[in-house]
Amino acid sequence: MMNGFPRPTELAQAWIREVIGAGDVAVDATTGNGHDTRFLADCVTPSGLVHAFDVQQLALDVAKKYCAEFQQIQWHLVSHALLEQHVTAARAVMFNLGYLPGADHQCMTHASETISAIDAACRILQPGGRITIVCYPGHAGGDEETAAVVEHVTALGSGWHIVKYEKLATRKAAPLLLGMEKQRTLQKQWAKMNHGCAWR
Ligand SMILES: C[S@@+](CC[C@H](N)C(=O)[O-])C[C@H]1O[C@@H](n2cnc3c(N)ncnc32)[C@H](O)[C@@H]1O
Repeated sequence: MMNGFPRPTELAQAWIREVIGAGDVAVDATTGNGHDTRFLADCVTPSGLVHAFDVQQLALDVAKKYCAEFQQIQWHLVSHALLEQHVTAARAVMFNLGYLPGADHQCMTHASETISAIDAACRILQPGGRITIVCYPGHAGGDEETAAVVEHVTALGSGWHIVKYEKLATRKAAPLLLGMEKQRTLQKQWAKMNHGCAWR
């Protein structure tokens, strides 16, 4: 909690919980220590599937231990920019940008790759599904990435419901959360693109 209000990471999970359930496919685009991966695996149950991406072996090793009791997770040691090579459809995609706490801070997400990954997530997302993006403008590089991501997502416009959650009047730029929901009116277009294939 953040003085009574939820932290962006907590609220992201609450927003995702509203749209996924047993048997769904979900993506953790930035696995890190695996908190969102574990949350998603719990939501989709063993009949569903979670795709977990990270570029650091260290992160996947830690996350695998943290999620050891869940069989419904596929681990991908590749950039989330390559999302579509591994996932054709999903009900939810979660991004938690920046660097892995306690690890090499140089290994962090970067605007150009993040935006490619967001675009890929938008294409594979099932209508009615949601994408959440936690951004960290308070560290070097994170400010530029946040600005670029907010601008890019805002420009998506039609076909999407887009929201932003941000603590105001802070001394240091606080983490913020973007939420995107694909409108159900895109169902026909989506089905055509996916040639009617199942969600996974
Ligand atoms: C803030 S951490 C994620 C925290 C995580 N959600 C958790 O619950 O612990 C950001 C992660 O993104 C990873 N990352 C950086 N660039 C990436 C990329 N291009 N594709 C996938 N993951 C990336 C980092 O290695 C780091 O583990």
